[in-house]
Amino acid sequence: MAKLNWGMIGGGEGSQIGPAHRIGALADGRFTLAAAALDHRPDVGREYAMRLGVAADRAYGDWTEMLAGERNRPDRVDLVTVATPNSTHFEITKAFLEAGFHVLCEKPMTVTVEEGEEIVRIAEKTGRICAVNYCYSAYPMIRQARAMVRAGEIGRVRLVVTSFSHGHHGDATDADNPRVRWRYDPAMAGVSGQFADCGIHALHMASFICDDEVTTLSADFASTIPSRELEDDAMVNFRTARGTVGRLWTSSVAIGRQHGFDIQVFGETGGLRWASEQPNQLIYTPVGGRTQIMEKGEAGLSDEAKRLSRVAIAHPEGFPMAVANIYCDLADAIRGEVRDGLPRAPAGLRSMAAVHAAVASAKAQGAWVDARPPMFR
Ligand SMILES: NC(=O)c1ccc[n+]([C@@H]2O[C@H](COP(=O)([O-])OP(=O)(O)OC[C@H]3O[C@@H](n4cnc5c(N)ncnc54)[C@H](O)[C@@H]3O)[C@@H](O)[C@H]2O)c1
Repeated sequence: MAKLNWGMIGGGEGSQIGPAHRIGALADGRFTLAAAALDHRPDVGREYAMRLGVAADRAYGDWTEMLAGERNRPDRVDLVTVATPNSTHFEITKAFLEAGFHVLCEKPMTVTVEEGEEIVRIAEKTGRICAVNYCYSAYPMIRQARAMVRAGEIGRVRLVVTSFSHGHHGDATDADNPRVRWRYDPAMAGVSGQFADCGIHALHMASFICDDEVTTLSADFASTIPSRELEDDAMVNFRTARGTVGRLWTSSVAIGRQHGFDIQVFGETGGLRWASEQPNQLIYTPVGGRTQIMEKGEAGLSDEAKRLSRVAIAHPEGFPMAVANIYCDLADAIRGEVRDGLPRAPAGLRSMAAVHAAVASAKAQGAWVDARPPMFR
């Protein structure tokens, strides 16, 4: 099968997420990196793209040049990844969708709810795929957890407790580092810092595993480093459409926590626990029974958990391979085989509605507010 042509915007040399996209997209021989506008500095981006093997005429200085250069080529890119800072996602994603390209947008998909609704509408109207990189949902053992909840193996879910808390922005003397600063600057990040950066991964995960949607929430935001305009710590209580109680803590000043993304799902007849630092294991406890460690690659797992595993039991895979699973499902979707579980624009919109709801709630001393986007109410 011919490889699909892939284009990348942002994710330049030294960026945080760029390498995971390149490893992920190229891991399975489904895509070729054919075009790129990788950096906010045009020359730096062009030079790096060529070092990665992109032809000189497709190593672009910025995304508008890339759109103009790609749109009429017979071998134009099939998929564009948007891995720039948050405030640029909407404009770039909209332009490429409208020009008929499929897009994988980094989270958060937009910075306002209105923009999110527009992206959902454009994707529907153009029939193009707009996926959002909620890559943690593509870990095999997260698919296993979802399959178990769907199969009723832990009964009705009563409670979800999740956190995504790290300490990598906890050093006040590093707060002006440009790669840290934009995340707390409303002009670059939008209305929320840490909740929109990491909290929405946890919120998406809660909905994803439970096959449910967040309806209302109450939030407490804090900027523990006072020079920060946006929050670096948040506690969010939520409720879902099926009545599940949700608790979420997200922080970037939790010094000592490294990646710190974990989730526990408590049902009427059992509980599940997963932590991103041990992503190959899912801990399962049936009510009144023994706690079991379920390992990626072992017998008896769900079809989805098997499908997304690549190497033998007890061999680590990890984060770039979860991103690779998103790219595999995108390649299938572009070729017409839509996979259950690929996070799409409505998931990105729901996150943005939750972010704005959390900001409003935090300003109103934690008042409970509707967390659904108007178009889904
Ligand atoms: N899905 C995930 O798990 C995950 C993890 C980290 C970051 N992200 C998201 O990825 C995005 C980028 O984050 P990061 O941590 O890699 O940021 P970063 O600051 O490390 O890198 C940003 C990169 O984008 C480039 N860039 C900026 N503006 C550009 C433009 N207009 N055109 C082309 N390139 C441009 C920069 O030169 C740089 O190479 C953010 O939206 C972030 O929320 C997602």
